[in-house]
Amino acid sequence: MPKRVLSGIQPSGQLTLGNYIGAIQNFVKLQETHECFFMVVDLHAVTVPQEPAALREQTEAVAALFIAAGIDPAKASVFAQSHVPAHAELGWLMTTLTYMGELERMTQFKDKAAGKESVGAGLFVYPALMAADILVYNADLVPVGDDQKQHLELTRDLAQRFNTRFGDYFTIPEPYIPKIGARIMSLDDAAKKMSKSNPNPASFIALLDPPDMIRKKISRATTDSGREVAFDPAGKPEISNLMSIYAHCAGVTLEEIAGRYEGQGYGAFKKDLAEHVVAALEPLQARYREIRSSGEIGDILKRGAERVSAIANQTLADVKERMGFLAPR
Ligand code: AMP
Ligand code: TRP
Repeated sequence: MPKRVLSGIQPSGQLTLGNYIGAIQNFVKLQETHECFFMVVDLHAVTVPQEPAALREQTEAVAALFIAAGIDPAKASVFAQSHVPAHAELGWLMTTLTYMGELERMTQFKDKAAGKESVGAGLFVYPALMAADILVYNADLVPVGDDQKQHLELTRDLAQRFNTRFGDYFTIPEPYIPKIGARIMSLDDAAKKMSKSNPNPASFIALLDPPDMIRKKISRATTDSGREVAFDPAGKPEISNLMSIYAHCAGVTLEEIAGRYEGQGYGAFKKDLAEHVVAALEPLQARYREIRSSGEIGDILKRGAERVSAIANQTLADVKERMGFLAPR
């Protein structure tokens, strides 16, 4: 039996090169060897306010980006989280197994809640829903960027807790995180992760940014005052971040990059980097436009949800039985 893979991305704003390198590139790789489930986590997106029309548009856009990036709906199931109601129901059951203290320790919650006057309760309990997303398919592997590691740890703890209380049932999932590029940083500040929610658009590269905008953003990316293209995340975080991006977009190693630009300074490196990013994203952008105009996404999501629903519903029924819910007649 091939191992089972599950991951999700929120439809809340434009996807960035960070999402692509941290997560989507691995989705595309894993679909060749694993049974894959990739979803647009719309139920997670509404943990912060979303404009209804924008949520609908973004849900389709993220699904289309999955396909444009190379996910083949014949190999992997692509679906919207809200189309499979078992996620929400198991999410509730997982919430009842989760301790307040565990949720209070989540750094993503602390970041997102910082400085806000009122914070939705959904944002707080969201990691229990994420655990349900993974456990409802008994997934073995979860490809994510580094920032999701803590949520994965909680998922593993909840699976263990359920197994201890109600008998062995859940697979304990493993994170699958890229060795380099697990945390792509902002172009204007290498202390912050690249994020679509950063108000400064020069800080991130969106997957749908036009080529000239990509060139401009890279040429203006912050670097230190040295000139040696060397990988040293602690001492030279900016250039190291750009080297990680280069390695993923050009398909070369960090050593090859360092060798290529020895004695040349940052100018030549950045110029080539921009061309590699453009070359990686241009075909994706062209496919994206085709898919959006073909109107196929609705059908792809429908078929995906149909395929995965039987598994999710079975898990939910098993879990409810173990927890002592009376079976409906
Ligand atoms: P999100 O956009 O928060 O739904 O994230 C979707 C996926 O992309 C998750 O697996 C994240 O860990 C990953 N991701 C988001 N931002 C970055 C980043 N800057 N570097 C690497 N991975 C990222
Ligand atoms: N929490 C993830 C993020 O913010 C998205 C997500 C929701 C997810 N459910 C998931 C990722 C299940 C992996 C598996 O990026």
